[in-house]
Amino acid sequence: MFKRKKRPGLILLFLVIFLPFFSQTAGADNVKKIYEKKCASCHGKDGKGNPSLVKMFKTELSLLDLIDKETQGKTDEDLVLITSKGIKNKMPAFRAELKEEEIKDVIVYIRSLPK
Ligand code: HEC
Repeated sequence: MFKRKKRPGLILLFLVIFLPFFSQTAGADNVKKIYEKKCASCHGKDGKGNPSLVKMFKTELSLLDLIDKETQGKTDEDLVLITSKGIKNKMPAFRAELKEEEIKDVIVYIRSLPK
């Protein structure tokens, strides 16, 4: 039988060890880190696109801009799909690197950036 009253210390220990771990995987801070590590180099910390990459990718700043009307007008499903599949010859696919939940969180994060 599980004698609850006699093990408060054990439960506390469990919380102390695992709480930071749980909050790290779901925290907003973590999403910001993912964005800044995986996306900001091309899309800019502010989401407006990195101008120095326009030539290299033979693209336009407006296409690298993730907070313009064009991108924001797309559905979450579209944006998650683009991020997980990548764009041929331009943007890497992230489905092997990030969990679907993480990609969804990153899209929510992008939508929260100041316009
Ligand atoms: C190596 C550079 C690079 C990285 C890293 C990168 N992208 Fe991109 N991404 C691009 C380029 C280039 C385009 C525009 C391609 C085009 O259409 O010309 C693009 C386009 C997009 C689009 C489509 C925008 C639209 O208006 O349709 C989304 C969404 C997007 N990226 C999300 C992300 C997310 C989220 C991450 C991080 C997980 C990320 N990208 C990381 C290069 C990158």
